[in-house]
Amino acid sequence: IINMSELDLQGKRVLIREDLNVPVSDGVVTSDARLRAALPTIKLALEKGAAVMVMSHLGRPTEGEFNSEFSLQPVVDYLTKALSCPVRLAGDYLDGVEANVGEVVVFENVRFNVGEKKNDEALAKKLAALCDVYVMDAFGTAHRAQASTHGVGLHAPIACAGPLLAGELEALGKAMDNPARPLVAIVGGSKVSTKLTVLESLSTIVDQLVVGGGIANTFIAAAGHEVGKSLYEADLIEEAKRLVANAKSRGADIPVPTDVVVAGEFSPTASATLKGVSEVSADEMIFDIGPDSSQALAEILKNAGTIVWNGPVGVFEFDQFGEGTKRIAQAIADSNAFSIAGGGDTLAAVDKYGIADKISYISTGGGAFLEFLEGKELPAVAMLESRGK
Ligand code: 3PG
Repeated sequence: IINMSELDLQGKRVLIREDLNVPVSDGVVTSDARLRAALPTIKLALEKGAAVMVMSHLGRPTEGEFNSEFSLQPVVDYLTKALSCPVRLAGDYLDGVEANVGEVVVFENVRFNVGEKKNDEALAKKLAALCDVYVMDAFGTAHRAQASTHGVGLHAPIACAGPLLAGELEALGKAMDNPARPLVAIVGGSKVSTKLTVLESLSTIVDQLVVGGGIANTFIAAAGHEVGKSLYEADLIEEAKRLVANAKSRGADIPVPTDVVVAGEFSPTASATLKGVSEVSADEMIFDIGPDSSQALAEILKNAGTIVWNGPVGVFEFDQFGEGTKRIAQAIADSNAFSIAGGGDTLAAVDKYGIADKISYISTGGGAFLEFLEGKELPAVAMLESRGK
């Protein structure tokens, strides 16, 4: 893969695909993690003397029509403040756009374009014709083979990886390809079904697979315990048993909590009760792991060589169910392991417990991060590889 940092971009028209898909509320960006991560790439292209064009999707609009709800204007407003050069939003760009050295032209949401999602070749060629160099930097969208992430790179004169994408691949590769052991993965979230493939693949690689949230409930049920009214998936109990058996057969472990925090209702004011994992009654719901379980996990994390974290272990949005996730966040922060965190809920927990500086690498990927952990080839990366070095 060619890296943007190796290239002479003086006077070149450089089209950078970023993942600027950030939450927006009332026209204002509410979480700027992805924007902060993209800024160094944009600044580097400016420093290298390029005429810089940036494109991204935002949300999932209907294609073929403009919808202000999905406009990149809030992102342009943010970039205008963050960069010391003119930043301009271009609505019509497919048939040619004026881009000058020293300014940044942001293309309006690429998903307004007909053919973006199905990686239409004619659209990809139009995008490619706008630039001398195409930079794929959107790690968060590298699992999508779309016109702006894949097709354009096949037709652009030069296609390369941006520093953010390259950094993500390096950090995630370090954690997954030849990790310092023990390798511990924490996979939380509400459903086994949405993370089944990642659980399956991790269970064949890691030394400890810590499950949390609704995912853990299915494993608790698989271990023969009552989970009451908790969110769990009865049809995946056999699957959970199989994952545990497979992990055990190679000397790895999927620990199940020994104590849990329960309540009778899902609400910010619900009162939390601590119980042994075998004491949950039929009308209760499990919302967090208990202190004995989080202490045991903290020990595991303390001794880890590598930690990969995706998903909270409890309903940490409500403080009374946040202690487990908080304890785990602190244990990761205190650990000497090489640690990686990724996914929207995980980053919210990292922020809430103030441990961002203590994590070795924070990924900008959600779905892309999971697909990387699954060992899947990311189409945009495969495209860059096909373009050679
Ligand atoms: C994400 O937020 O995971 C990426 O921006 C990809 O968005 P998508 O799932 O709508 O393709």
